[in-house]
Amino acid sequence: MLYMDKTTELILDGKICKLPIIEGTEQERAVDISALRDQTGYITLDDGYGNTGSCRSQITFIDGEKGILRYRGIPIEELAEKSTFIEVAHLIIMGKLPTSAELRHFSDLLTDNELLNEAMKYHFEGFPPNAHPMAILSAMINATSCYHSELLTDQMRDSFVVQAARLLSKVRTIAAFAYRKSRGLPAIYPKPDLKYTANFLHMMFSLPYKDYDLKPETVKALDLIFLLHADHEQNCSTATVRMVASSRANLFASAAAGVCALWGPLHGGANQAVLEMLEDIHKSGDDGSKFIAAAKDKHSGKRLMGFGHRVYKHYDPRAKIIKRACDDVLAKLHINDPLLDIAKHLEEAALRDSYFVERKLYPNVDFYSGIIMRAIGIPVEMFTVMFAIGRMPGWIANYKEVMEAPTRIYRPRQIYTGPTLNHYTPIKERK
Ligand code: CMC
Repeated sequence: MLYMDKTTELILDGKICKLPIIEGTEQERAVDISALRDQTGYITLDDGYGNTGSCRSQITFIDGEKGILRYRGIPIEELAEKSTFIEVAHLIIMGKLPTSAELRHFSDLLTDNELLNEAMKYHFEGFPPNAHPMAILSAMINATSCYHSELLTDQMRDSFVVQAARLLSKVRTIAAFAYRKSRGLPAIYPKPDLKYTANFLHMMFSLPYKDYDLKPETVKALDLIFLLHADHEQNCSTATVRMVASSRANLFASAAAGVCALWGPLHGGANQAVLEMLEDIHKSGDDGSKFIAAAKDKHSGKRLMGFGHRVYKHYDPRAKIIKRACDDVLAKLHINDPLLDIAKHLEEAALRDSYFVERKLYPNVDFYSGIIMRAIGIPVEMFTVMFAIGRMPGWIANYKEVMEAPTRIYRPRQIYTGPTLNHYTPIKERK
């Protein structure tokens, strides 16, 4: 339920402007400023959107001060313990946990859609050997829409669950093929009898003459990573997906844009950056102290990657779960990774340091996830791709919200700070 029966008053240039107060179901409050410019001539300015609510959404709730994350009202801790990525994908996209029949139907749709059009192999062949898999992922998700012409004409011809399953299923095939291409390895086709995450690991690591040994702990660990990334309300990539969707672009085009936004090191690219940071610290023989000092120095160009968050001013609840899973998986796989010791040392040192304490900088989801992925054998350049596969349900659900309650096209305004009126100078007179 949304409450809108209150208003507040803003006085600008001596004029009173009445603005509605909006209250969400978790008592988050906002001032609706959509009529402000018409009434006063002013717009609001919020660099980096730190204080801007860009939409109303029923998908994910975060309380960054208390470290709470819930998908459709269900705490992330419960889902991590009891559910699976595909069940959670259904919850996020369709708005409810599936019944057995719904889950079977959704899984069948994923299986039906796991293959790519065979002609797409020529697109993969066109990329240079060292192409980053995030570039391939984005390009190939977008290219997939060319093989589903109905997307470009009548997007809603198939039911949304079919569209969602098509993208969710194909993204894992594209991701695995991108990796195989980057290593010069032959593509491995999906196996219909394998479940989502196991099938992905099979396509990543099997050989034409030898199936990959699917250890249950490895499959469970990657499934947990996907589940923990499944949505996170209006982060940079999801806001991008909604922005593109608002122009009524198709689902694949919107998700491809999300992949590009996710790639940057301040967002999803941080998981790759964390591992590279830990490797550098390890190689240099530093126990992390020198790096912490550099991360505090604004002129060093360094940040403690995997630390800090725009919304969480408390320990990221996903990081807590991943840290526990990290100890568990490494023990089960009998792996002793020195990078885990460095990460724990960095965390302890940062949480004692006034710089990080005063700025409320805690480990985020990316701090420990890379160590699990490394233990599973996922190469570092594929880390952000794992984030993208995991985030797909969130992007799809946000796309669905935009399409189901079509808002106006997203179109922020700006405050212009460039030159005032001046005139064209012929080239010979220019200095
Ligand atoms: N190391 C050192 N200093 C930091 C860090 C860090 N990781 N993060 C923030 N700060 C400092 C920053 O320099 C600033 O200091 P001051 O107030 O003295 O100028 C203050 O803390 C506030 O930082 P901000 O950049 O204004 O905060 P933001 O909300 O714009 O940025 C962030 C959030 C996640 C981009 C940032 O904390 C960061 O760059 N972290 C490292 C990259 C990272 O781990 N990203 C993954 C985010 S979680 C998963 C995801 O969403 O993709």
